[in-house]
Amino acid sequence: MTLNLNDKFLRDFISAEELQNMQPMVNTAHQMLMDRSGPGSDFLGWVDLPVQYDRAEFDAIRAAAEKIQKNCDVFIVIGIGGSYLGARAVIEFLRSPLYNQLPKKTPEIYFSGNSISASSLKELLTLCEGKDVCINVISKSGTTTEPAVAFRIFRDMLEQKYGADGARERIFVTTDRAKGTLKSFADQAGYQTFVVPDDVGGRFSVLSAVGLLPIAVAGIDLSALMQGAADARTDFADPALDTNACYRYAALRNILYRKGKTTEILVGYEPYELMFCEWWKQLYGESEGKDQRGIYPASVIFSTDLHSLGQYIQDGLRNLFETVIAVKTPDVLLEIPHDPANIDGLNFLSGKAMSYVNDTAMLGTLFAHNDGGVPNILLELADRSEHSLGYLIYFFERACAISGYLLGVNPFNQPGVEAYKKNMFALLGKAGYEEQRAELEARMK
Ligand code: PA5
Repeated sequence: MTLNLNDKFLRDFISAEELQNMQPMVNTAHQMLMDRSGPGSDFLGWVDLPVQYDRAEFDAIRAAAEKIQKNCDVFIVIGIGGSYLGARAVIEFLRSPLYNQLPKKTPEIYFSGNSISASSLKELLTLCEGKDVCINVISKSGTTTEPAVAFRIFRDMLEQKYGADGARERIFVTTDRAKGTLKSFADQAGYQTFVVPDDVGGRFSVLSAVGLLPIAVAGIDLSALMQGAADARTDFADPALDTNACYRYAALRNILYRKGKTTEILVGYEPYELMFCEWWKQLYGESEGKDQRGIYPASVIFSTDLHSLGQYIQDGLRNLFETVIAVKTPDVLLEIPHDPANIDGLNFLSGKAMSYVNDTAMLGTLFAHNDGGVPNILLELADRSEHSLGYLIYFFERACAISGYLLGVNPFNQPGVEAYKKNMFALLGKAGYEEQRAELEARMK
């Protein structure tokens, strides 16, 4: 089994009957998803993406990735939110958070355009000096300020270095099929483009060209990743809660929310899960946090954060629950050595695998947090493979849709993201925002 939902650490908090009582509502949410009758149903392209993707585009992604691998030392991925988090999460999960430092045959990969930081841009420009560089700018709307600014800067750098013709061979654009500033720009300049499907929103787009091109450049097996997601799609087709772990997760977190558990902490026990947690936070935060409702998504990596946030989770405000991702098969076997002197008193661990100690830390923490009043949903993932990760991605995407419908929100829009942009544009003097600027300036006095 690729993924198992273990409810052992929930039993003091949710009864079997409470879960079964959710079945009619889950059936309704499932029906809304399947017959596309729920809010935001124009954005359900991700549901069948693992089996209904554009094969020609998939081949073009692979070919572009090979070209990038051949022609550059450094690959800069420019995008923000759903336009970069998925790719970064997959690369760090399957390769390493230290991917750029470790020996490899594929280019170094850096992410830019996900902040407005001058120092971070300058550092990346410095890092590119003396190296061959390619870039992939990703923006579905084609108008987002952060990646647009970074693209302008990196394009300028490439044109100075290689000339306009040389730069053209090194710039890859992922955006809307037909509309938006970036699409027009790419067509005019003759850049190779990849499509963000119309019906796939940013945070659900990791298995489209948005995520797949950078993932392929890192040398990751795209077919296995897609197969994992396709298998999850098959496994979660029947809404029955006793067999559908994905819908069970959606139902359980909604029951907990109704009991006042308004913060969900996604827990990883491996540093390579950190960016995956960031991807998950965007998926759930942007999908559910609206209409003055929604579970606040937080994340930690244990045992690291047991030494920083552990105290709060154990003893602080009791509005929390945890969802733990436990990777069952260790990919590295590292034994703790024996020391006859035993001055550090660690010989009780001699010969033990690090993974065994990590698993034991997890078990100890699950009991402790349960005793402290924190319900835990345990997701047991078979291994650290492309197939398992594809499965997990689809699991969370589908659960997010069901969970959003159970909550009564549209999981596929993000109206709240516009508020800061409007103020920023007004304050920066963008044409069309004059009235708002005057109003904000009056408020500043
Ligand atoms: O999930 C979303 O839709 C957003 O987070 C977007 O991905 C993010 O705002 C970036 O938008 P764009 O790809 O249009 O630049």
